[in-house]
Amino acid sequence: MSPDEARLKIEQLRKALHHHNYLYYIKDQPEISDYDFDQKLEALQKLEAEFPQFEDPNSPSRRVGGGITKDFPTLKHKYPMLSLSNTYSREELEDYLKRTQKALPDEELEFICELKYDGAAISIRYQNGSLSQALTRGDGSQGDEITNNIKTIPSVPLHLRGSDYPAEFEIRGEVFMPLAGFAELNQRRLQEGLEPFANPRNSASGSLKMQDSALVAERPLDCFLYFVMQEEPLFSNHYDAVMAAGEWGFKIPRPEQNYLRKAKSIDEIFDFINHWDQARHELPFEIDGIVIKVNDYRQQERLGATAKSPRWAIAYKFKAEQQETILRNVSYQVGRTGAITPVANLEPVSLAGTTVKRASLHNADQIAKLDLREGDTVYVEKGGEIIPKVVGVNFAKRALNAPEFEYIKHCPECGSKLIRLEGEALHYCPNDTACPPQVSGRIQHFISRKAMDIEGMGSETVEQFVQADLIQNVADLYDLQVEQLLPLERMAEKSAQNIVEGIAASKEIPFERVLFGLGIRYVGETVAKKLARHFETINALQAASKEELVAVDEIGERIAESVVAYFADTAHQNLIERLQAAGLQFEVVKQEGGSQTLAGLSIVISGNFERFGRKEIKDLIELHGGKNTGSVSGKTSLIVAGEGMGPSKRKKAEDLGVKIIGEEEFAQMIGL
Ligand code: IVH
Repeated sequence: MSPDEARLKIEQLRKALHHHNYLYYIKDQPEISDYDFDQKLEALQKLEAEFPQFEDPNSPSRRVGGGITKDFPTLKHKYPMLSLSNTYSREELEDYLKRTQKALPDEELEFICELKYDGAAISIRYQNGSLSQALTRGDGSQGDEITNNIKTIPSVPLHLRGSDYPAEFEIRGEVFMPLAGFAELNQRRLQEGLEPFANPRNSASGSLKMQDSALVAERPLDCFLYFVMQEEPLFSNHYDAVMAAGEWGFKIPRPEQNYLRKAKSIDEIFDFINHWDQARHELPFEIDGIVIKVNDYRQQERLGATAKSPRWAIAYKFKAEQQETILRNVSYQVGRTGAITPVANLEPVSLAGTTVKRASLHNADQIAKLDLREGDTVYVEKGGEIIPKVVGVNFAKRALNAPEFEYIKHCPECGSKLIRLEGEALHYCPNDTACPPQVSGRIQHFISRKAMDIEGMGSETVEQFVQADLIQNVADLYDLQVEQLLPLERMAEKSAQNIVEGIAASKEIPFERVLFGLGIRYVGETVAKKLARHFETINALQAASKEELVAVDEIGERIAESVVAYFADTAHQNLIERLQAAGLQFEVVKQEGGSQTLAGLSIVISGNFERFGRKEIKDLIELHGGKNTGSVSGKTSLIVAGEGMGPSKRKKAEDLGVKIIGEEEFAQMIGL
């Protein structure tokens, strides 16, 4: 394909992808299948790799993220990001409305009622229809520049539709995590032995501050835009501006969904408030109140603002839903890693539309802080809206002789004495080799998709095998014979064979995934990868001291201690010996002809080459110990440039004083 043809094709694909993205995420009316979308995206990525001269920072391919930012630059907001004053009752809100009318006597006021999304505020700039910069609220006068992270959110347009948007403007809104995505994310984190997020708001703002935008891309974030900064007088009111933003491709609150409504009287405002106070639990995302805004821009201007908040808008906050009920008793759950979670068993009570029988108590400290006793009348609240929690005790109703609460000392499943590590909130059952939920949990984790991905097995099969005493640990899997499985219920010969073959096939799974599969506390996928790449063999990792572990990039004390403790345990040593004997991968497979010539170098490639393909050069960089990175920065050591290196890249490289070499020079460096 000639460069001219490629440019046309690239433009065509980008346009189509922007459009289908809009249909899917904003309109909710896709016209092509996910498969066709992925095909187009792949075709684009291929062309972009082949013709880097047509680079576009807002290409739909940027949705997947990739760039790493160590420290986000702090930038000043062009217009300060104010917050809203809150009201908590009808009286307070009536007062506000009276005050507002008094400030504009004899004028007719129209209000816009909106949902108050519970997420993280964001301000995004567009230049000539392209997203150019995104800042967090920060302290209101300056925020963090997180443009690359924002670009990964599929409902934020990278290019605007039509042509009647201002040449340059800023739009503000709220990034949030829908409840379904939040629940899934926390589920995954628990499985990986990570601390779950407290609520969707924390996980949204936490996600926006992650350094690796590729990881942000995996977080299920969404964004409503609710405020267009008026830089040139285009509209006379807020409503028209928001509706126009909808035409430009933004996800806005729609009146058809009743997410936004015009109101002229306090009764109309309260219709909206009362409706959502009831119906908010049916929304797929969290709101914590309603925002009421004066619609007319000239009236807004005349009302002005205090140092903290505008006088033309106010928030009405919902009361957290709370109920009183009786705490029957506390039970304890044992997780895969042996972590103990206390659970409150309650007299069933109706709360926010569901019947609540259980509530989380988090840990022993939390119980002590609440001064909880069995039989107490307690207050339960839906805070994170999904799992209710006990927030207090009605002491007036406490029985005089209620005995003080005692946290368990022994595992409810296996009776082992519990331990609690210094500085940690949770108690653990240390019996990871024989405590039943830990045994099944570990094996389930080991066979899971991101670890050994054993075909034909699922959590029920694991449970069945454990119950039948066929397996007690992951090494036992590799001794299983078809004949042993046949007597089990619902086990046909074909499935038994599949399972045994699936287990055998897992011996080819690379070391980093085996390491992740072992389920060492705090060693999730990413950490396992880092450790495997650094130490290269299980023997080297086993021999590593805490100091040597902490010296690895991004490995902290907590992880290091957990790794050392894991390998110090003789049961684990035996397990690994058996897995090694079974033939699993315990070393990073080095490709032939590799070297460490480029170790420590961060290398960017740009343009087209004659002797090597781009992919080939990337592979060669890794083979010789270097790191291939996408964009030129202060940390770039070297650029390998071919035909048609983009002028912006070249200028940046020259400004930063980064050395540029050709492909022949590169070949010489690695002895080719
Ligand atoms: S308008 C000048 N509208 O609430 C005020 N804010 O407490 C501009 N928020 O920082 C904000 N939903 O993060 C506005 N429909 C909505 C909102 C909303 C949520 C958040 C926003 C703001 C905070 C103020």
